[in-house]
Amino acid sequence: METTLILVKPDGVQRGLVGEVIGRLEGKGLKISGLKMIHASEELANKHYAEHVGKPFFDSLVSFITSSPLIALAVEGENAVEVSRNLMGATNPKDAAPGTIRGDYGLTIGMNIIHGSDSLESAERELAIFFESSEIIAYDRAIDAWIIE
Ligand code: RTP
Ligand code: MG
Repeated sequence: METTLILVKPDGVQRGLVGEVIGRLEGKGLKISGLKMIHASEELANKHYAEHVGKPFFDSLVSFITSSPLIALAVEGENAVEVSRNLMGATNPKDAAPGTIRGDYGLTIGMNIIHGSDSLESAERELAIFFESSEIIAYDRAIDAWIIE
């Protein structure tokens, strides 16, 4: 079973889309195993976006993600990384398919509402940035018998 890091970015929180994003993840059958609100510091943002250091959009990315609180989620499920990336849609909302979160709610690349880890390795690294291991909780849901074959 995979666990991935999802962020509802500051634009999603400001626009009141937290419930919508969580609803789509839960509706798909994924399970929330950790959840918190954080106003990210520059240090945390630099760690999270380390792979983008030196890119032309890095400074605006860090200033955006630190501009207002975000919601961090640990999300568990079979193929949780790929499944949640598919729910998110393409990075640039203008290219994201209708029916995806970015396709339905975004317009420009800098304000694309949601982050999701792009691989299992990234998920492990990113989860450790946002959560203590004790904050990611393993529990059973009765409904899983009706979601997972
Ligand atoms: P994310 O990390 O947020 O889940 O998005 P992603 O994997 O689809 O995209 P990534 O390449 O990791 O880029 C991280 C975030 O940086 C912003 N970005 N801006 N101006 C640009 O060319 C540009 N490219 C990327 C986006 O907000 C993207 O989500
Ligand atoms: Mg990414």
